[in-house]
Amino acid sequence: MTTMTSAVTLPPGPSVPRAVQGAYALTQPLRGMRRLKERYGDAFTVNVPIFGNAVVLADPAEIKQLFTSGPDLVDNLEVNLGRVLGPRSLFALSGDEHKRQRKLLVPPFHGRRLAAYEQIVEAETVRELASWPDGKEFATLPSMMRITLNAILRAVFGAEGAEFAELRELLPPFVTLGSRLAVLPITKKGRFNPWRRFERMRRDYDAIVDRLIAKARPDGDDVLAMMLQTRHDDGSGLTRDEIADQLLTLLTAGHETTATTLAWAVERLRRHPAILRELTESDDLLDATILEVQRTRPVIDLTARQVKQDGFRLGRWTLPKGYNVLVSIALVHDDDAVFPHAATFDPHRFDGARPDLYQWIPFGGGTRRCLGAAFATMEMTVVLRTLLRDFTLVPTSEPGERWHSRGVAYAPAKGGRAVVRRRTGGEQ
Ligand code: HEM
Repeated sequence: MTTMTSAVTLPPGPSVPRAVQGAYALTQPLRGMRRLKERYGDAFTVNVPIFGNAVVLADPAEIKQLFTSGPDLVDNLEVNLGRVLGPRSLFALSGDEHKRQRKLLVPPFHGRRLAAYEQIVEAETVRELASWPDGKEFATLPSMMRITLNAILRAVFGAEGAEFAELRELLPPFVTLGSRLAVLPITKKGRFNPWRRFERMRRDYDAIVDRLIAKARPDGDDVLAMMLQTRHDDGSGLTRDEIADQLLTLLTAGHETTATTLAWAVERLRRHPAILRELTESDDLLDATILEVQRTRPVIDLTARQVKQDGFRLGRWTLPKGYNVLVSIALVHDDDAVFPHAATFDPHRFDGARPDLYQWIPFGGGTRRCLGAAFATMEMTVVLRTLLRDFTLVPTSEPGERWHSRGVAYAPAKGGRAVVRRRTGGEQ
């Protein structure tokens, strides 16, 4: 039960100055979190850049309470995302406005609708894998980035032809610049300011979205076509600006996250030949393998909320209004008490059981849980199924790749290197 009292009780945490904590958080984020958990337990208080004073949670019961608390108690923590994705982005909205927008965006991402996109993902995968070298080591991440970008452009933006080609050029540098501007304290003043370049790119982007809207077919099954048809309870639809901001949000949230998870899947499978063999013989273990890749290599390590009322009781703690709360996805996934032998990569742990969605949390949780979770799962399933059908992935005894932050997500540091052999009879 959530009750309100005024006395603040915060978890323990380091007392070193913010600058020192910040330097550590920026250079050693995951190792830093693990050390703090060893020292202070499964909740601690930190003071770091971007998030300021924040409580970090790694206890599943407290995380469940946080995820299931209403937006009057905890809500969005705006970290400048509105400035880069647009003020109507789901990431920038709170409370009722978030609920209202999200309600219209959920149906196109519902599991049943997604079957329509499988063909797109398979075609993009086959097209990309045609260039994979036989028997020569290479990084798979660039390929995964192209597959997931093209899949979103076609299935979500409904883009083909000129708009598809222009968005493919424009969006990767636009998103990279945007994710830097979201976290760096750069004002919009000055002639050679990077914001100028960003605003120019945004104008180009808006012009392409206008063309896509003009071309969209009312009976189209891409997400943009559905956004144009959908209506709020009062009969009003989404405006052009809302559509443009949400499409950019979907691309930013869904492109690199899915691609890096796929690169990790390659990295993990090459180091677990028995699992790889099982997967080659049957598809049965594929769903569980994807769950286990996301458990052991969550590409987003934190999700954040902000306390909206004074004296918010969260498990053992009482937090003041304005305090930020971070959920450490990696710490929960690493916890032997939650996942026995957590360090072992073992998809069989999910045999016959779906994971508890407050313990297996790569997509966050509650009213702000990843909108594209089913889409991402569909994509990863189709890409891996196609890859394993057309190629033999050669195992390796090399140590695992390290984590590397790319801005939006954590990727394998060497890009998920692979050696593959094309199967005879596989599709070209
Ligand atoms: C493996 C791939 C992905 C991972 C690991 C991932 C992870 C996440 C996480 C951790 C959040 C924050 C949830 C929270 O605060 O509780 C999130 C939010 C979101 N994701 Fe994903 N995501 C992935 C793919 C996608 C895809 C493919 C799309 C869409 C095409 C997408 C769209 C979104 C959106 C719109 C939100 C904001 C939801 C809201 O605020 O209501 N994501 N995602």
